[in-house]
Amino acid sequence: MDGVVTAVFFTLVVGGGLFLFFLWGRKYSKAKLAPGWNDPPMSSECAHQKYDLYHCLLKEHKEGLCPVRAFWWKGQHLVSVCGLKSYKDTENLYNRPLSFFGNDRLHGMRAILNINDSLWLDRKSRIHQCVRGDNLTSFYPVFVALSHEVVKRWATMEKVEIVSEMYKFFMKAIVTTLFGNIFEDDKGIEELVRLYDNCKVKEEAKYGSDGNTSTSHEDLDFEQDLKALQDIMKKMLNSRRNSRSDLRFPLMDELLEADYDEDEIISHLIAFLGGYHTATFYTAWLFHYLSTHSEVQVKLAAEIEKNISNDTRLKRYIQTSSSYLRQVLDEALRLSGTAPFSAHYSPNDLIVDGYHIPANTPIIQALGVTLHSSEVWDHPSQFDPDRFAPDGRHAKRGRQFRPFGVSCTRRCPASHLVYHLVSTLLSVLLHHHTVLPDGICENVKEKTRLTTAPAEALYIKIKPRQI
Ligand code: HEM
Repeated sequence: MDGVVTAVFFTLVVGGGLFLFFLWGRKYSKAKLAPGWNDPPMSSECAHQKYDLYHCLLKEHKEGLCPVRAFWWKGQHLVSVCGLKSYKDTENLYNRPLSFFGNDRLHGMRAILNINDSLWLDRKSRIHQCVRGDNLTSFYPVFVALSHEVVKRWATMEKVEIVSEMYKFFMKAIVTTLFGNIFEDDKGIEELVRLYDNCKVKEEAKYGSDGNTSTSHEDLDFEQDLKALQDIMKKMLNSRRNSRSDLRFPLMDELLEADYDEDEIISHLIAFLGGYHTATFYTAWLFHYLSTHSEVQVKLAAEIEKNISNDTRLKRYIQTSSSYLRQVLDEALRLSGTAPFSAHYSPNDLIVDGYHIPANTPIIQALGVTLHSSEVWDHPSQFDPDRFAPDGRHAKRGRQFRPFGVSCTRRCPASHLVYHLVSTLLSVLLHHHTVLPDGICENVKEKTRLTTAPAEALYIKIKPRQI
């Protein structure tokens, strides 16, 4: 009798298991592969790298009309997504397809942005919170001091070249708040900008759209600049190890307390340092839009005027997400599309917006395509902060507005830092000044790689505001 019960039991368990497996398999076999999946490798213009990736994405997605596309890029089979449903279906992914980004010599393959799975989850739990919550709030006095410093300098300048100025501003803000600034004057900050920028330019040339074009001479230059950058990081690390100061520098302190080895710490530090690049391009576009839209400045200055009367008020103002200031910042994020895509993969097969995506396929989230799609936004090429007004269609921002990434767990850790810092700078600047363009006002060309930067130098000038 016992034998019969056992046999029935096993039949049910095995049969049930097989049935579930059959259903699971049917789910994937029923779903279609993404449009373009079966196209031969060299069939599309993107496979020939006629465009940068962002312009390929625009083309493949038909400027937003086609939400899921498969295509070949640099010999890899990719799926790219840009719609509401496809963002929802991919927002829990967090692993990054490292083969897609290539060997990252600048930050190192142990940096937070280049690790996956349980190692990333572990590092993330320590590192991401360094730029959020109470840590972020504690940076406020530094943000105010740096903003005043910049505005004072700009007031003495005939014209301001915005990218080089913002490079220094963000680099100094990151180093001073997160690492502990060891420099006696700004020359050290300028040197960091020079070294990181040189390395970045050479790295992009090496892995850029034209393939591996760097010469051994350029490789040597890269190695020298990288070594100098790492040496400065080591000095900062040692200075903090030997310091008795009570001040807290969240990222440096967290990494030291975790007791990671020196190479790993330096990789994470350089990864955060690199945020100055993206933040600079974003603010370059922001200043460009502001300088060419005086009506937005007038409205913004009036709001700032009401909120800058004392420190507590200003602090609350820069933290609120329901202000006109935030609408302006978000509209600049949308229109500039500074980070035009993010990329993830699933270790298992996945259904995205009804399409079957095989395990381990790189999935591009085409953030820039969605931010510029006429399916989503009215007059998408216009700078119009009112589209985010509290009673407007986009008041809640929603899934289609994801300038810092779609992933719930791995979107940019520094998004709030960017909002707080740029809000402080604009509040201090527009309190007494007006921003005017100097030079090109229209049709500024863009250079798109991992970020969307102005392709030409942008200048502004600031003038005392007439009250
Ligand atoms: C306007 C400015 C910025 C934009 C638009 C931006 C956007 C992004 C995006 C789209 C990602 C990828 C998210 C994903 O994979 O899903 C990312 C990652 C990241 N960003 Fe930012 N970012 C900005 C500024 C910064 C700054 C100032 C810092 C540093 C202080 C920073 C640090 C990082 C780091 C460390 C990662 C990788 C996180 C990880 O892999 O765990 N970003 N950012």
